[in-house]
Amino acid sequence: MPERLLERSLAAVWHPCSQMKQYDDGNMPLLPIVGARGAWLHGADGRRYLDGISSWWVNLFGHCHARINAAIRDQLEHLEHAMLAGFTHEPVVELSERLAARTGGRLGHCFYASDGASATEIALKMSAHHWRNCGRPEKHRFLCLAGGYHGETIGALGVTDIPLFRDAYGPLLRPATVLASPDARGAATSLEAAQAAAQALSRHLERHDAETAALIVEPLVQCAAGMAMHDPEYLRLARELCDRHQVHLICDEIAVGFGRTGSFFAHEQAGIRPDFLCLSKGITGGYLPLSAVMTRDDIYQSFYHDATARGFLHSHSYTGNPLACRAALATLDIFDDDDVLAANAARGDRIDAGLAPLAHHPAVSHYRRRGMIFAFDVHVDRDFARRYRLAALERELLLRPIAGDSGATVYLMPPYCLDNAEIDHLCRATAEALSEALPT
Ligand SMILES: Cc1ncc(COP(=O)(O)O)c(C=O)c1O
Repeated sequence: MPERLLERSLAAVWHPCSQMKQYDDGNMPLLPIVGARGAWLHGADGRRYLDGISSWWVNLFGHCHARINAAIRDQLEHLEHAMLAGFTHEPVVELSERLAARTGGRLGHCFYASDGASATEIALKMSAHHWRNCGRPEKHRFLCLAGGYHGETIGALGVTDIPLFRDAYGPLLRPATVLASPDARGAATSLEAAQAAAQALSRHLERHDAETAALIVEPLVQCAAGMAMHDPEYLRLARELCDRHQVHLICDEIAVGFGRTGSFFAHEQAGIRPDFLCLSKGITGGYLPLSAVMTRDDIYQSFYHDATARGFLHSHSYTGNPLACRAALATLDIFDDDDVLAANAARGDRIDAGLAPLAHHPAVSHYRRRGMIFAFDVHVDRDFARRYRLAALERELLLRPIAGDSGATVYLMPPYCLDNAEIDHLCRATAEALSEALPT
């Protein structure tokens, strides 16, 4: 292993989503990783870890996948990058066409950036700019859901309702209106939670639709909120209300797209299409930074004009990077060729069965599953998430529970490549780590 990697990292790298002092205190491990293959990350200390969270929800088919590797290598020999303003190239055109086809042609234009938060920014800007182009500049307010997360740049934080990430920057933000979440845990049935949240949306729109540009939602699973799952009925009702009040519906599928919830896109389960669809993370199979915002052709047309200022002048240097687009095309090829969703349904059922004993554990509440996302809550104490993470690592499993005030949500979002032995390891280590992390 490269010498003193840990010390050098602590001295030179500012790690994301981290209180750096905790690494120095030894409260939280910082693990040097030297390689990865399939579902496993290989540590510099010779240990390996089953990637139970797909490396922050990005990896789809395992690490170091032969087909994605080959596609990137091939692309590297031809064109590594070209700016997308004034130029175009085959990978970005083919990717746009194939993504549009995945929406049944409803979202016919695709705008690119490099990360999820940028996609959120783009969707918000496009929505408000569209209304301005249509002579309705007063429609520039946004709605989001309680507990929602859409990234951490200033604009994205304005529609994110996670105080830990948002509060320090309060004075910098232009906050959106936060509406009730359809989180099924809060009601007798998931349908009731969906209907109640839709009523709250309806009441708000009755009074404020004239100034509202868009509602942004994470369809089916609000991931950072603690894998809060909701009934597809909410999306159906929200779509109806947005149509009735001329408000855009932005589906942020940065985390839940590409099969995570059981369908290719999560919104499909409600039988709706959004006006804007934000994609990232799994889009490249977890290889390279790429995000996309897809929208309807008539929204695109409102920007199409002789006046430059009516165009969408937003840009990022690496927009539509060919290497990232080729990784994304290889990812789509795997979906097309390998019947991934059907294989995942069986894989998910086996994981679900393996976790079944946990659902009835006295310390566990709200065991839930949507497609390839599994979660349960444990309310014991604030330190539980840290103890659980360490206990899982001890058992060669990477899980990263989402901490709350009185406990945590333990969740599993594994890559779509686990074999039966790996599933058994995942379920066994998840249960054993719980036993160890509970207070004695
Ligand atoms: C739903 C959702 N939106 C946006 C983002 C932000 O993506 P990125 O971290 O690539 O900026 C995330 C990241 O976890 C997410 O889960």
